[in-house]
Amino acid sequence: MPNLNIMPHIIRPMSPHGGALIDRVLRGVVREAALERAHALPTVALNPTAVSDLELIAVGAFSPLTGFMGQEAYGTALKEMRLPNGLAWTIPITLAVDGETAAGLAIGAEIALTEPSGRILGILELADKYTYDKEEEARLVYKTTEVKHPGVARLYAQGDVLLAGDVWLLDRPSYAAEQFPASRRDPAQTRRIFAERGWRRIVAFQTRNPIHRAHEYLQKVALEMVDGLMLHPLVGETKDDDIPADVRMASYQAILDAYYPADRVLLSVYPAAMRYAGPREAIFHAIARQNYGCTHFIVGRDHAGVGNYYGSYDAHYIFDEFQPHELAITPLFFEHAFYCKKCQAVITSKTCPHRVTDHVFLSGTQVRKMLEAGEPLPVEFTRPEVSAILMDGAARAKNNGSEK
Ligand code: ADX
Repeated sequence: MPNLNIMPHIIRPMSPHGGALIDRVLRGVVREAALERAHALPTVALNPTAVSDLELIAVGAFSPLTGFMGQEAYGTALKEMRLPNGLAWTIPITLAVDGETAAGLAIGAEIALTEPSGRILGILELADKYTYDKEEEARLVYKTTEVKHPGVARLYAQGDVLLAGDVWLLDRPSYAAEQFPASRRDPAQTRRIFAERGWRRIVAFQTRNPIHRAHEYLQKVALEMVDGLMLHPLVGETKDDDIPADVRMASYQAILDAYYPADRVLLSVYPAAMRYAGPREAIFHAIARQNYGCTHFIVGRDHAGVGNYYGSYDAHYIFDEFQPHELAITPLFFEHAFYCKKCQAVITSKTCPHRVTDHVFLSGTQVRKMLEAGEPLPVEFTRPEVSAILMDGAARAKNNGSEK
C-alpha cells in the first residue's frame, strides 16, 4: 500500500468548458479539398469581430461552441446566461448579415466565410437563419441601449439576420502572420507549455491596457499563490481611443524584461474582439481562459467596463449568479488598486486605511491627456520603461494624424 501522505499531490490539467477542447481547424488534404470546394460556394464577408470569433471557435477558445449560435442557444445565452444544455455562457456569439444576403443563402448549404478582401478563411454549414431583437440584446448584455456604448454601437450597426451553424477554419486571418506571430498560441499550445513547465495552477490576466503598477500588483499578488502567470492581452478589435495593441505589446515586453521572473510568466495574445460588456464579459473572459488551460482568473475593478455603465464590482457579483460547480476556473477578485503615499506601496481600497488624497491614481482620460502632451506618467503610477514606450506611441500617433 503506498503511503498517500507522501504521494506527490496530483492535479489534472484544467478541463475545458464542457469537457472537451473543440478543434474545428482543417489541416492537410482535408483542408486542401475544402479550400477547393469553398471557391465555388456562396460567400459571406466577415467583419473584424466575426473574423476573430471564427478563429476562436475553431481553436477551442470558445469551447464548447462549434459554430455561430442558433436561435435556441442565442435565447438561453441572452436570458439565462447559459447554453441550452445548462452550461454557463454569457455572451451571444453570432454572425450577423443583412436581410438581402441572408435571403440568398439556403439552409443546409455550405457558405465560404471570407475576410473583407475576399480571402477565404472558413466554411459555415448553414443550419439556421433568424431575426433578433437588437434592443433586447443591448439591454441584457450591455445593460444599456445607448449607442454611445461601443458594444451597443457595434450591435446596432450590424445586419438584421443571424446565420447559425458549425464552422471550419481553413486559414488564419491575414494579420496573424504579421502581428505578434511569436506570441500567438492556441489553447492546445498554452496547455502544452503549462505541462512542460510543470505549472499546475496558472492565473490568467486579461487586459486591453498597458500594465500600470496597479495591474502589476494584482498579477504579483496572484502569482504569489500559483505556479505561473499567463499575461493574456486582448489584441482583437478595440475602440479607437484604446492604446493600439502594438504599443501595448512593446510595453508588456519591457515591463516583463525588467520586473518579472521570466520562468513564471507566459506572454501570449488573446486574439478576441473587446465587447465592453462588463460583468457578462468577465464570465466570458474567464471561461475562455479556462479553455486555454488556466485555473485562476483575475477580476479587478470595473472589468471589461467602459464609461460609467457598470458598477465598480458588478463583474465580481455576477460570479454569484453561478453555482460553484458551473465555473471550473477560480476568479480572484481585487478591489481598486493604487499607489498610497502613506503606505509607500501599491495597495487596494480593501487594505489601505488612508484617504483618497493620499492616493496616486490617474483615470484613462488623464493618462491619454498626459501622453498626448508628451508628459511622462508618474513613477508611482507606471514604470518608467512603460511610460517611455507609451509616450513614444502617442507621439507617433500624433505625427501620423498630422500627416493625414
Ligand atoms: S479590461 O477591459 O481588460 O478589463 P484593463 O486592461 O484596464 O481593462 O484591466 C485589466 C484587469 O485589471 C481587469 O480585471 C480590471 O478589472 C483590472 N484593473 C484595472 N485597473 C485596476 C485598478 N486600478 N484596480 C484594480 N483592478 C484593476
